[in-house]
Amino acid sequence: MVDEKRSAPRVAVIGTGAIGGAVVRRLLDGGHEVTVWNRTESRTTELVAAGARRARSVREALSTAALALLTLKDYPAVQQCLAEQDTDLSGRTIVGMYTGTASEARLAAQQATALGAQYLDAGIQAAPETIGTNAATILYSGSRHAFERHRPTLALLSSPRFVGEAPEAAAVWDLALFGVWYDAQLGLLRALEAARAAGIDVVEFARTAAAQLGHVVATVPATVAELRQNTYPPGPANLTEHLTVLRHLIDLRTGRHLGDGGLPQVAARIETLVEEGRGGDGLTATAG
Ligand SMILES: NC(=O)c1ccc[n+]([C@@H]2O[C@H](COP(=O)([O-])OP(=O)(O)OC[C@H]3O[C@@H](n4cnc5c(N)ncnc54)[C@H](OP(=O)(O)O)[C@@H]3O)[C@@H](O)[C@H]2O)c1
Repeated sequence: MVDEKRSAPRVAVIGTGAIGGAVVRRLLDGGHEVTVWNRTESRTTELVAAGARRARSVREALSTAALALLTLKDYPAVQQCLAEQDTDLSGRTIVGMYTGTASEARLAAQQATALGAQYLDAGIQAAPETIGTNAATILYSGSRHAFERHRPTLALLSSPRFVGEAPEAAAVWDLALFGVWYDAQLGLLRALEAARAAGIDVVEFARTAAAQLGHVVATVPATVAELRQNTYPPGPANLTEHLTVLRHLIDLRTGRHLGDGGLPQVAARIETLVEEGRGGDGLTATAG
């Protein structure tokens, strides 16, 4: 991460919400001149007091800088802001910094390149307060040239990581990573819900549940190796044994607030594999 204060090119930040505001402060600290625009103008007041320049329109903001960060709520907001452009943006880079889908990333890239700009899509694995620290991860995809050109500026926000030239790559990484968190967290919540419903001391239960989550983390490298090599050793249990446990688990989760977590679909997949004679494989075979 770049830390030293220095004179650096002007950056436009469109959207000064929680993420955008943190980005502007970090860029100012890093020595950049920053132009800001926000739909609700009052949200730029503190940033202007801190040294940013307020633009009267998205068009004006984009005209001031070679690099524009669209730190907006979602793709419709990005689409709306870019739709207001009627000028050639050749030589400029637009970064869509929002949580969105792969198809939205492709559409944003098309819209930006139609205006003559280079496009980067960004996946933000960071809370506003972590922007500019090693705890922030921001993933970028799209124009490698634009990424390399603006790497020093992007390095002020997080350790920047380029994940592919397909515009949607960062969105896929971003959503898949959120999925890891949701599946683990919701798995824990389902377990706590079932334990509490059965009158079990959830504090004591949670200690063992935490160890269980640790087993998942510890076996990540082995799981990835199995997927890459298309070999599925059974490990602690094979698919036939897993199927029995999953059916019991579906029964335990019946009628609960958080539902079965998609386990019937997993069980159906295992049944198919068992019918194909692969009941001795390990669980990774379900994703193979
Ligand atoms: N906050 C987090 O911890 C976090 C973490 C990871 C990813 N993200 C993602 O980062 C993105 C920004 O999040 P945030 O927390 O900064 O959200 P936020 O505080 O709600 O800010 C959203 C920004 O988008 C603007 N906006 C919304 N709709 C608009 C429209 N139609 N036209 C123009 N501007 C519009 C808002 O303007 P107004 O001020 O006028 O409403 C505001 O500047 C989201 O995609 C979010 O999912 C956030």
